[in-house]
Amino acid sequence: MDEQIEKEINSATRVERVTVPDLRGRKSAGEKVVMVTAYDYPAARIADRAGVDIVLVGDSLGMVVLGHKTVVPVTLEEIVHHVRAVRRGLKRALLVADLPFGSYQVSAEEALRSAIVLMKEGAQAVKLEGGGSLFSTIRRMTDAGIPVMGHLGLTPQSVHMLGGHRTQGREPEDAERIIQDAKGLESSGAFGIVLETIPASLAARITAEVSILTVGIGAGPACDGQVQVWHDLLGLTTGRSFGHVKRYASLGQTAELALRDYAEDVRQGRFPAKEHSL
Ligand code: KIV
Repeated sequence: MDEQIEKEINSATRVERVTVPDLRGRKSAGEKVVMVTAYDYPAARIADRAGVDIVLVGDSLGMVVLGHKTVVPVTLEEIVHHVRAVRRGLKRALLVADLPFGSYQVSAEEALRSAIVLMKEGAQAVKLEGGGSLFSTIRRMTDAGIPVMGHLGLTPQSVHMLGGHRTQGREPEDAERIIQDAKGLESSGAFGIVLETIPASLAARITAEVSILTVGIGAGPACDGQVQVWHDLLGLTTGRSFGHVKRYASLGQTAELALRDYAEDVRQGRFPAKEHSL
């Protein structure tokens, strides 16, 4: 697009930034919140222009970008690297950054320090996994002015404890623990909770019983919002995807076909053609 036209569109559609207080209001207004992960500048730009409300620099980057089998190896420095890129691409959406495994579990001080690092790089909120033992840590962060999202249900950083990426909260006592954790997150000052891979009925109950935002991934339609992983949503992952994933495009296949065409053109001497030569 012509740079001048783009400038005019941007100023004519000058958008209000999404804020945490704004998101709190969405629940009472019954307006769904849209969240997606992004890990680099072009993706952030696309998500922002598409009107997504929250962009998450998730530790899923360990799996979908860096090729690890789990999110466990992801470091704070890696999240920082991607937060910097995503920050540059966002004008409207709220940027939430994941606290990776090992950056917040040892002590509340360490957690606060890690969260401060992410906020200084341009995150506007942080997300961490778990309940119970983390409530006082979350309180320390919110007291310091850092908005916090919790994450319950399938918590990928605990994959080895959970025995795999499996549905959580099917047994009544597990469901009860997740409900109590959700209430604990609410009273610790978290503004929202990601609910991952739990029965839709349990997510609906939590959504009704807490005043803070619930954002589901594999948690049914009753949540206050939905989050999906960029690569799943756009068809950039290979192999079998989780049952909750809806693919809105097949970008991986499109890219592969384009690259095959390019390779063939180069080999056949069709590229560069006259019009590509100076
Ligand atoms: O890391 C991530 O992408 C996440 C989402 C699955 C919510 O935590």
